[in-house]
Amino acid sequence: MTNLLIRTSYSFNIFKHCYSTAAKSVASIRINNEDYGTDDYTNVTPKILSYLNRNLHLQKGHPLSLVRQRIVNYFYSSFTHGGNPSFSVYDNLKPIVSTKQNFDDLLIPEDHVSRAKSDCYYVNKSLLLRAHMTAHQSELLRAGLDNFLMIGDVYRRDEIDSTHFPVFHQVDAVRSQRKEQLFENHQGLEIFEKHFLDQSQSFKNSINDPTKQSCHTLEATKLMENQLKNHLLGLVKVLFGDNIKHRWVDAYFPFTHPSWEMEIFYEDKWMEVLGCGIVRNEILMNAGPNNSIAYAFGLGLERLVMALYKIPDIRLMWSTDSGFLTQFENKDINADITYKPVSSYPQCVNDLSFWLPNELTIDTFMSNDFYDLVRDVGGDIIEQVKLKDKFVHPKTKKQSLCYSIVYRHLERTLTQAEVNQIHKEIEKAAVQSFGVVIR
Ligand code: PHE
Repeated sequence: MTNLLIRTSYSFNIFKHCYSTAAKSVASIRINNEDYGTDDYTNVTPKILSYLNRNLHLQKGHPLSLVRQRIVNYFYSSFTHGGNPSFSVYDNLKPIVSTKQNFDDLLIPEDHVSRAKSDCYYVNKSLLLRAHMTAHQSELLRAGLDNFLMIGDVYRRDEIDSTHFPVFHQVDAVRSQRKEQLFENHQGLEIFEKHFLDQSQSFKNSINDPTKQSCHTLEATKLMENQLKNHLLGLVKVLFGDNIKHRWVDAYFPFTHPSWEMEIFYEDKWMEVLGCGIVRNEILMNAGPNNSIAYAFGLGLERLVMALYKIPDIRLMWSTDSGFLTQFENKDINADITYKPVSSYPQCVNDLSFWLPNELTIDTFMSNDFYDLVRDVGGDIIEQVKLKDKFVHPKTKKQSLCYSIVYRHLERTLTQAEVNQIHKEIEKAAVQSFGVVIR
């Protein structure tokens, strides 16, 4: 309960900054010329909303756009029927989606952690900034599509460091097949188990068996798994070359079964680049096709782009500096590009320690709320925020936290004086929003 209260007052504060009318409370917010009602779920911030129309994945010559085109080309050229590409591409879908699209349609349980206010940017209780591109899967299936790519910006509340940013881009896909296509070379095999076909109305699909959904035959599942893994391996080889080291890791997603993640070996460590699996049959049945089996995957564009061009900091994706952009502009999309740091400006590190108010503890204080506040006040010069120390006073039992805030401008040297001033503003905002006392 405490958390709810704290978060509400926090978003209220933010709106007060931005909308002069909001002396009492704000009943609606305007996003892209549309008004949306707000409620106690609302936690989108003006800073986050400012990313909404950037469309980096469509910006000509932007590294995210180059890799998007390479991925699209791979799917266009690998899968055709009658000379036409089998996949259709949706890269301009509206990022505000309903909780039904983002969660319910994908069988994500009511109490699943990914729905938490601390993890998503909610416009209000029923609308949010999509947390993954899979949010559009059911509507496109419902429209009758069987092979499609969904590409766009997704929004998640997260920590701050060189590989995490609250906005990133995903390429999601569905490829579905009917019996005749899947078993083109193996006539007589079936997608569905006989007892499913006999009683498909009352059949309860289960995922207790780790190898397959109970409605599917093992042959269909294995054939799909094989295709899925080969298609995705083909993609990373096209991007990184034949020598790229990869491995498959068993995974769990509410909307696929079985599920896997692919990791690639990059700069001395394994890096997860995508999630995938066989689409849960309930989703296909709800959205239309009831005679197909489908695979789906979702990959993070930033990870691939950063590894491919050796871009060291995710904030650079948002740079409008010509020193960054011209390294990718007017290049062939398949060009071998290695990012050269324009120059590396020094960091400034300031610590921020505070006592928590009585109603909060070290465990109930929402770090993601704090990170959003730091980013709202500090903007893009915030390179990293890390928890440095937790402390409980032995006598008074008062609890305190200490965060290190790393400041660095991507394009110039920051002076200690200007950092100190922003740091002071962050302190002030933390006092106002969370009722903490600066130490
Ligand atoms: N939506 C998942 C994510 O964002 C990725 C995924 C997509 C996994 C489709 C399986 C199938 O992590």
